[in-house]
Amino acid sequence: MATKRVLTGMRTTGPLHLGHYVGALKLWKQVQDSGEYECFFLLADVQALTTHADNPALIEQSVSDVMLDWLAVGLDPFRPNVHFVLQSALPERFELSAYLMMIARFAEVSRNPTLKEELRGRKKGDMSVGFMAYPVDQVADITIFSPCPAHPGDQLLVPVGEDQIPHLEYSADLARRFNKMYGRGKNILLECQPMVGEVGRLVGTDGNSKMSKSLGNTIDLADPQEVVTKKIMKMVTDPARRYKSDPGHPEVCPVFAYHKAFNGPSLAERMKLCRGAGITCVECKCQLAQRLNEELEPIRQRYLWAQEQDLVEILNRGNVRACQIAGQVLSAVKQAMHLDYPSLIKE
Ligand code: TRP
Repeated sequence: MATKRVLTGMRTTGPLHLGHYVGALKLWKQVQDSGEYECFFLLADVQALTTHADNPALIEQSVSDVMLDWLAVGLDPFRPNVHFVLQSALPERFELSAYLMMIARFAEVSRNPTLKEELRGRKKGDMSVGFMAYPVDQVADITIFSPCPAHPGDQLLVPVGEDQIPHLEYSADLARRFNKMYGRGKNILLECQPMVGEVGRLVGTDGNSKMSKSLGNTIDLADPQEVVTKKIMKMVTDPARRYKSDPGHPEVCPVFAYHKAFNGPSLAERMKLCRGAGITCVECKCQLAQRLNEELEPIRQRYLWAQEQDLVEILNRGNVRACQIAGQVLSAVKQAMHLDYPSLIKE
């Protein structure tokens, strides 16, 4: 029977927000609930260090915050097919990463659009070496979960937000290169398949194209009701609509973008009302606040349950299963690369 796995992850640099929720978490939950895959959800604390090496305490705190967020949205590591994995606790992954660094080219990593976007406004020379190389390290995150030995029909699915796509394409490229260089006709690392949801990205409350903690424009999953409402009421709308009798332009309005992500059914009607000045921005925001709070309420309830769970035990279980798989992949990789030195090991 074909092996079907899901691997995906998030950096542990702070609490999660609505951008994570619509861009990734809803999709993760869907694949989990389909029951068709063994799912590995990676807490990327090593990748968090690429930009936050000066603040390890924040990363430690964030590992538990992110786990609570995951539990609250309904990811369920108590099912046999679902595992939470701590990236730093998987030694085989570091080793694969070091080998992949040797076949990755500096120029292709420098061209990576996601990396370039993250570098915007910062000096390349000030970034850590770990940061500049993280696209390769992320390929190790993915390919260490390759079904091994591979059979036709095996799958390694990676559900992510839109911004991660270049990393996944690169993962498939490097896996192909590895197999060609060392596989002697066999696929040792599997080319992953990307999966993106209907809403791949959510604008920030300030209208910036990305919701992000560093831009201060997030609505967090753990925000209480009043905070959500306050953040929405402060949002900018269509700048051309100065008076409520002015016709609105929903296509440029961030509040409308949120309605699009969370309030699908009433969209056509809302667009008409806005264009005909039949609804005020304040009314539109109130309705959004209500809708969002409705969506977040069950998540808030589950936080209470999540806080009672033994997070360390969840991670231990996840990492035991991840190490089993990673061990198999790493031995196949080392054998293929002539790094198994059988005569030395037998001594
Ligand atoms: N780069 C992802 C982020 O910024 C996190 C991540 C690390 C990841 N390893 C991964 C995503 C592997 C998908 C697959 O959130």
